[in-house]
Amino acid sequence: MELRGRSYLKDADFDTEELLGVVELAATLRREKREGRERRRLEGKHVALIFQKTSTRTRVAFEVGAHDQGAHTTYLGPGESQLGHKESVTDTARVLGRMVDGIEFRGFDQSDVEVLAAHAGVPVWNGLTDEWHPTQSLADLLTMRDHAARPLDDVSVAFVGDGAGNVCASLVTSGALAGMDVRVAAPASRQPAEAVWTAAAGLAEASGGRLTLTEEPEEAVAGADFVYTDVWVSLGEPEELWDERIDLLLPYQVNTGLLAATGNPDVKLLHCLPAFHDDHTEVGRRIRAARGLEAMEVTDDVFESPASVAFDQAENRLHTIKALMVATLAGPDAGG
Ligand code: CP
Repeated sequence: MELRGRSYLKDADFDTEELLGVVELAATLRREKREGRERRRLEGKHVALIFQKTSTRTRVAFEVGAHDQGAHTTYLGPGESQLGHKESVTDTARVLGRMVDGIEFRGFDQSDVEVLAAHAGVPVWNGLTDEWHPTQSLADLLTMRDHAARPLDDVSVAFVGDGAGNVCASLVTSGALAGMDVRVAAPASRQPAEAVWTAAAGLAEASGGRLTLTEEPEEAVAGADFVYTDVWVSLGEPEELWDERIDLLLPYQVNTGLLAATGNPDVKLLHCLPAFHDDHTEVGRRIRAARGLEAMEVTDDVFESPASVAFDQAENRLHTIKALMVATLAGPDAGG
């Protein structure tokens, strides 16, 4: 696998071998770290982290991953750089490309991360845009590989809820590349964009994967190894959408009844996090006061049950993002 110099702007930027290669590298780097024998493959490298939106997992994964491998980071948070206000994305790309070895970008428009990659001359990684969340799906694949203990092309995952979001788009695309059985249950108005679905169907045909789209959650989860859900109002979407989304998506809540509908006693819950599984957040408290709901996309009993592997999935953000940086900046065999 040779990915040096490559950007990762959306899942389909890598082919099946490359995608699974990064996932395997992440497992190797995780083992090295846990055994206290991690080699520093990114000594002397410096990466810029541009965040136009807030983050916990993605930011920390890039910072810790870079540090573990000997690289330095510069964080440019929301409103902290000239980008978009006083300087075009193109000019920012040309400046940063002369100073750093790689650039992570989290923002709104997919076109921004594409312009960065076109002009920076160094690898650019998409840390989430309105369209894609491809570093999330790397962690999702590693987590499913770990917990299914079977090759991914023999594993099924059902995404239930807001199918129009970036997490679902990336899961469907990466799952199709990996040859998985991927199902999506979402209301007609919140299903994956047609272009996303059509492209993923082509990838699934080539890999031997299978895609299913339905409005019926019970149909999607039948026999599934994993049930995946995400928040109903995504990062950057207006707060005013909550009422409408709750009305639309409450039938898609992941609860004990839906897990039972899988018919699989070993089914696992995936969630990219953060999750509204209780009212221990400002938004959770507001929704509880206004709507009387204790949880939204996933109930607390399911989230806290042994079926939930969401925190393994969160940890895997670190190992997969680290692998992505190593693969594209140095190659897996570089360093110490
Ligand atoms: N899943 C995810 O992207 O988390 P953050 O928003 O905390 O980075």
